[in-house]
Amino acid sequence: MPSSVIDLRSDTVTKPTPAMRAAMNVAEVGDDVFHEDPTINRLEERVAALLGKEAALYVPSGTMSNQIGVKTHTQPGDELICETHCHIYNNEAGGPAALSGVTCRTFEGDFGILDITQLDGKIRPNNEHQVRTRLVCLENTHNRVGGRIYRLEKIQAISAWTHANNLALHLDGARLWNAIVATGISAQEWCKPFDSVSVCFSKGLGAPVGSALTGSREFITRARRVRKLFGGGMRQAGVLAAACLYALDNNIHRLAEDHRNARVIAQAIADTPGLRLNPPEVDTNLIWFEADADLGTAADVVTALQKRGVLVFATGRQFLRACTHLDVSAAQAEQAADAIRQAVPRLTPAGSRA
Ligand SMILES: Cc1ncc(COP(=O)(O)O)c(C=O)c1O
Repeated sequence: MPSSVIDLRSDTVTKPTPAMRAAMNVAEVGDDVFHEDPTINRLEERVAALLGKEAALYVPSGTMSNQIGVKTHTQPGDELICETHCHIYNNEAGGPAALSGVTCRTFEGDFGILDITQLDGKIRPNNEHQVRTRLVCLENTHNRVGGRIYRLEKIQAISAWTHANNLALHLDGARLWNAIVATGISAQEWCKPFDSVSVCFSKGLGAPVGSALTGSREFITRARRVRKLFGGGMRQAGVLAAACLYALDNNIHRLAEDHRNARVIAQAIADTPGLRLNPPEVDTNLIWFEADADLGTAADVVTALQKRGVLVFATGRQFLRACTHLDVSAAQAEQAADAIRQAVPRLTPAGSRA
């Protein structure tokens, strides 16, 4: 494998830069379980203001943030509604069931995007035999279906419906930053329709650890108790929060570069016989694609690209994902595109590689 690897497997593979580490090094810290870490307090105030919410809670991961959100909104025996391919349902180890005693009812979106017409009429009747519909969870951008961005009006329609029906609305905004940069719609506008919003600092923004859950002051007070229950109360974690503050200051606007680089790689995939973008458009930094079976499997494509120093992720027998991020330059995106154009056509039928 060439010495400098271009790692497109995930936007979580970034390493903290020297400047980010310098910010971590000088962070003021205290015991955050006592509310005494000044850097965490500053991060929480900053994120709440940025997203237009009353309060925020710093947590170790996006998974914990979402699952604290689910538990704080629900009671055991409740039901949440979500999209078939969303992270909360598929990739959080059964958290709603295991941690909150909540069942998930899924609806398949248009490449992950739900429409109010799919939800209207689906709330369970108030009847002692039925599970109680309590929460709707959306994901924006939507990871598993190509980094898709919701149209704000679709979210606003779902929000009006949830609130008219006394349901809560939660956003898994692990990559909300990408939607903000790609659309020019502010964080506050994106977040206004939601009762709670989770954002991550450890994906496109390049921080090593951390997410934040935001909502009303009353909601976050209750969420703080659940964070303790889930073992997420941290002590002098201001060293980590300093990296998140650094990321907010320095790494949001540059996401546009990741989106441009993603389009360069997506074009190479679109140009390569036997590969197909799925979905066909790339809205942000996530590129999901399929390999024709007569080319071999996704694993064969991974191996062929790995030999040229490009790492992509096989997500299924024929499915793959490539992500752009802070540690992939424009030149490396071009290099990865060249590798795809050169390596994949050399795959011979039945996956035996030239
Ligand atoms: C959409 C989405 N939500 C939540 C998460 C969970 O984040 P974490 O890995 O920090 O638990 C991820 C992780 O990639 C994600 O893609």
